Amino acid sequence: MLSCNQKNNDIKHLQTQIDSLQANAYQPGFGDFMSGVQVHHNKLWFAGKNENWKLADFEIHEIKESMDDIKKFCKDRPETKSIGMIDVPLENLKTAIQKQNTKDFEDQYLILTNTCNSCHQETKHGFNVITVPTAPPFSNQNFKPQNGN
Ligand code: HEC
Repeated sequence: MLSCNQKNNDIKHLQTQIDSLQANAYQPGFGDFMSGVQVHHNKLWFAGKNENWKLADFEIHEIKESMDDIKKFCKDRPETKSIGMIDVPLENLKTAIQKQNTKDFEDQYLILTNTCNSCHQETKHGFNVITVPTAPPFSNQNFKPQNGN
């Protein structure tokens, strides 16, 4: 039988180990999430231009997920307060994708991209300028819609 004191000491020891694990666990930072957003923002354009609406829907979902992660994991950064400005442009672009309307897609994509830059300006990162991409980020992905998939 363990004495009460021994048990308390064991629990304290375990808590210290948990605290240390949490403090040392790798957590992506704001910039890491943004680098992911950059790739998905780029692929999203080529998905839409190729009318690969399933891929476009996937890519916009990935952007939304990264923005949600910033809200969740970067609460300590004052810049996170501005992130909500991206919600409506993301929703409107999602609607254009659902309607499979190329003209709406292009218009809403431009508004989204302008909003990326508005937030960069508001958070004193105005030197970081996002544009409509001229080439996909990788050469090993085909953006054409696949029959039935
Ligand atoms: C909160 C408002 C906000 C919004 C909205 C936002 N960004 Fe950012 N972005 C930032 C901040 C702040 C940084 C600097 C992060 C850091 O400290 O590393 C950043 C950094 C970046 C970087 C540089 C990453 C690096 O380390 O090289 C890229 C690329 C980027 N954002 C792309 C985008 C794109 C694309 C969008 C729109 C789809 C977007 N951002 C929307 C605030 C925002």
